[in-house]
Amino acid sequence: MSVLSEDIKNRIRALLPKYPRKQAVTLPALHMVHDEYRHVSPEAVVEIAEILELHPSEVQDTMTFYAFFKEKESEKLGKERVWVCRGLACMLRGAYELIDHCEHKLGVHCGQTTADGKITLEFAECIGACDGAPAILRNDEHVMNVTPEKADGLFAEIRK
Ligand code: FES
Repeated sequence: MSVLSEDIKNRIRALLPKYPRKQAVTLPALHMVHDEYRHVSPEAVVEIAEILELHPSEVQDTMTFYAFFKEKESEKLGKERVWVCRGLACMLRGAYELIDHCEHKLGVHCGQTTADGKITLEFAECIGACDGAPAILRNDEHVMNVTPEKADGLFAEIRK
């Protein structure tokens, strides 16, 4: 039985004419599957490879090159992904304390998802928002000058 829905398979197929080679669709396809299922299982890798007429190891190689993708159901992402930056600028402005606060507040360690499935907490090395250190990336949106109170507000908003 297929793990990918017909809809997502069709969305991947629809990308093919937009790229010069099928292999170039690997990364967008991985993102599409990851966004939808919150992880990319080995079975999904095989199905992506079938659509792109690649060997599954080629898709797997692309996926593991980026630490971005979750592979196991047990590591499945929450509804939203929150990265706390611990790069130099953020570290100098309290990132480690902020990470401690977030882990305590959410009851998870970085790399884990809250029990309600709403938030996956992670750390990043620099998210390109050093002028707003300490900073958080909420999915693809920067949150700048984050205090513990601001982080709490962010989590409350996500959990609404
Ligand atoms: S070091 Fe945190 S955004 Fe650059």
